[in-house]
Amino acid sequence: MSELAHGTLAGLAEIADIGRDARRGGYSRQLWQGPDLELRAWFALRAERLGLAVETDRNGNLWAWWGTPGPDAVVTGSHLDSVPGGGAYDGPLGVVSALEAVGRLQASGFTPSRPCAVLVFAEEEGSRFGIACLGSRLLTGGIDADRARALTDADGITLAEAAATAGLDPRRLGADPEALARIGLFLELHVEQGRGLIDLGRPVAVASSILAHGRWRLTVSGQGNHAGTTLMTGRRDPMVAAARAIVAVQETAAAIPGARATVGRLEVVPGGTNVIASSVHAWLDARCDTEAGTRALVAAITAQVERAVSLNGCSVAVTEESWTGTVAFDAALAGRFAAALGGVPALPTGAGHDAGVLSASVPSAMLFVRNPTGISHSPEEFAEVEDCVAGIDALEALLRSLL
Ligand code: GLV
Ligand code: MN
Ligand code: MN
Repeated sequence: MSELAHGTLAGLAEIADIGRDARRGGYSRQLWQGPDLELRAWFALRAERLGLAVETDRNGNLWAWWGTPGPDAVVTGSHLDSVPGGGAYDGPLGVVSALEAVGRLQASGFTPSRPCAVLVFAEEEGSRFGIACLGSRLLTGGIDADRARALTDADGITLAEAAATAGLDPRRLGADPEALARIGLFLELHVEQGRGLIDLGRPVAVASSILAHGRWRLTVSGQGNHAGTTLMTGRRDPMVAAARAIVAVQETAAAIPGARATVGRLEVVPGGTNVIASSVHAWLDARCDTEAGTRALVAAITAQVERAVSLNGCSVAVTEESWTGTVAFDAALAGRFAAALGGVPALPTGAGHDAGVLSASVPSAMLFVRNPTGISHSPEEFAEVEDCVAGIDALEALLRSLL
C-alpha cells in the first residue's frame, strides 16, 4: 500500500496497519473490538480535521456532518468493519473516498446548499453478530430490536452487552426514524467485488441491482462418542454428515443457473481430535437473482441436505438467520448519475451493501470502482490508485451537483 501513502488515498495508508490478521492474512476488524475502535477514532479525527461534527447514533453508526444536521441531507459513506481475513478496500475505500471528496469540495471553496454527512455503518459484514448490514437494518427498522439485542458473538456476548460496553444505551438500539429522516439521498462508493468492470475495461460504474440473499444455520446432529472405542459401523458422525451436506449445497446450486450457495463457516461441537462430534453448525449463504429463485434454491438445498445427512444416521435443522430481498436501485437516479459521469456503465452485483438496505427507505445509489483481481472478501482484493482516484472524482462530481 506504499503508493497510497501520499495524496488522495493517504487515508487508506493511515489505517493500513489497523486490524491486520497475521494468522488469516488480510484484516479482521470486528464491531467494537480493538481494531474497529481504532478505526472509529481515526475516522473521528479525520472528520474533525475537515471541521465536520461527529456523532454516534443509537445503533453505533458514525455520522460526520458538514453543516447543520437536518432533513434532505446528501449522505455518503460505507463501513470500516471487515470479514475475517478481508481485504483493505471493502468498506474503507468508500469511507476514505467520502472524506476525500468532502475535503476537495471544501478546498475549492464550494458552499453546500443542503446538509451533507459522511456515514460509517456498524457491522456491515455481520462478522461479529452474524447479521450483515446490522447498522443500517437497525437504523431503518429492518430488524426487530429485541432480536438484535439478543444476538451473540463467538464468546456469547450479546449485542446489548457489547453496545453497553461501547458506551451506547442498549435499550435505544433499533429503528431511528429521526436519524433516518435526515437522509435525502444516500450514495455509497465501494470497490467492485466481481469482474464486471474488468470485463468492460472501465474504472467506474453505478450499481443497478443486488441479488436476493440470506443466511441459514444448518445444525447437523448425530451421536457424540469416543474416537477409539466406537467401531466405524453404526456411527452417527455429524462431521461426515456435514461433509456430505456441503457437497449437496455445492451440487444443488451448481445445477441452477445464476445461483450461488456457500458454506464458509463451521462450528464443531464439542470439537476434539479424539471425539466423534455430537453436532456441527454450518452456515449457508445463498443468493439468486429473484426472491422466488433464492427461496427455491434454499428449499432444494434443504431437501438435498436432509437426504445427505440421513446417510450417516444424522438429522439437520435449517434456521433462517437473515434475509435480504432483491434490490433494484432507483433506475432513474442511477441513470442520471451515469449520464452525469459521462456515460459510465450500470452493473448488478451479488454482494450486499448498506445502500441496498437503505434503498427501501430513501433514494440510494452506488458507485463501483474496478478491482483488477476480481477477488474480494480476501486479502487479494485490490484497486489501482488511478481507479480509486477516478472513483473519488466521480463521487466529488456527484456531490457537487447534489449539494
Ligand atoms: C457483504 O459483503 C456480503 O455480500 O455478504
Ligand atoms: Mn463485504
Ligand atoms: Mn462492503
